[in-house]
Amino acid sequence: MSPDQETDIPPILTEPVYPLPGSVGVPDYAPGERETLVSEIRTLLREKDAVLVAHYYTDEDLQMIADETGGTVADSLEMARFGNRHPASTLVVAGVRFMGETAKILNPEKRVLMPTLQAECSLDLGCPPEKFIPFCDAHPDRTVVVYANTCAEVKARADWVVTSSIAVDVVRHLKEQGKKVLWAPDRFLGNYVQRVTGADMLLWQASCIVHERFKAEAIQNMVNHYPDAAILVHPESPDSVIALADVVGSTTQLINAARELPNPRFIVATDNGIFYKMRQAAPDKIFMEAPSAGEGATCESCAHCPWMAMNHLRNLADVLKNGSNEIHVPEDIRVRALRATQRMVDFAAARN
Ligand code: 13P
Ligand code: SF4
Repeated sequence: MSPDQETDIPPILTEPVYPLPGSVGVPDYAPGERETLVSEIRTLLREKDAVLVAHYYTDEDLQMIADETGGTVADSLEMARFGNRHPASTLVVAGVRFMGETAKILNPEKRVLMPTLQAECSLDLGCPPEKFIPFCDAHPDRTVVVYANTCAEVKARADWVVTSSIAVDVVRHLKEQGKKVLWAPDRFLGNYVQRVTGADMLLWQASCIVHERFKAEAIQNMVNHYPDAAILVHPESPDSVIALADVVGSTTQLINAARELPNPRFIVATDNGIFYKMRQAAPDKIFMEAPSAGEGATCESCAHCPWMAMNHLRNLADVLKNGSNEIHVPEDIRVRALRATQRMVDFAAARN
């Protein structure tokens, strides 16, 4: 059944219904401050038995420190898995709030800190539990699959949690078992998974404010200028952009494609924080941002997540010093959210 055959489809959230963080981002450091902070953070990580788990979209300085201190820079699936197997008693998660919550759901015995607790995600905000839970209750015949970009309470209502790197495999597995899926929150990723798997999926209608802005026509114009370029697309992008892609995948899958494809240049439709790792993976290749503002449009996100940009050296040093910004998830919600989250981790382990 397609979603438009249903009567009670959630509203399409085309306009954000929440405040964006505006120009908050990495500060201008005073002369010498950056170097001082980097060295302070290295020492504090050691002293506090802490490890830095950073997403590819965060500031290059944070990615560099995570790499150099035995932490990780990863996609959201690998961030969850890394925190789970690393022995440090404190996980410092540089990313957005759902990533810190996922770490806490999987590691209740560890202290989970974040440089900022204000870093949201439009997908998480677009799927409030008070609306999502009744929607699930109205469709008891469907297996509830939620993207990791959701709050703990939404995960607690789900049967499965998935990330973009594993979504197709999980839904294919459910289809083979004859299951019908209720998918949330990303409508574009949901559409993509539905097309690839042919599964019966009812889709929640939220979207990512970064990826939804990529413009197919402008990308096509760019390809006309650079016919040797390959197009790499994160599946949170609109269907018309995905249709142009040479590779569609999670952040890690896109970095691997940059390394493995023979093309000398790439048009990349995802957050530009990923370029740090892409350049390391393929130093001789050229990476170009996919245009996110077509003619007459405005560029509100400019291929960079405003919430990811709230993580920087100053607030990272502060949380390590003060132990502030700790993530807490109420135990009853955590235990229920763990069921669906652990299923994802186990599925990923069995697949490898
Ligand atoms: P990945 O799981 O591919 O890292 O994606 C997370 C995300 O928030 C993309 O916008
Ligand atoms: Fe959420 Fe989009 Fe930011 Fe990823 S890029 S954290 S999906 S708002």
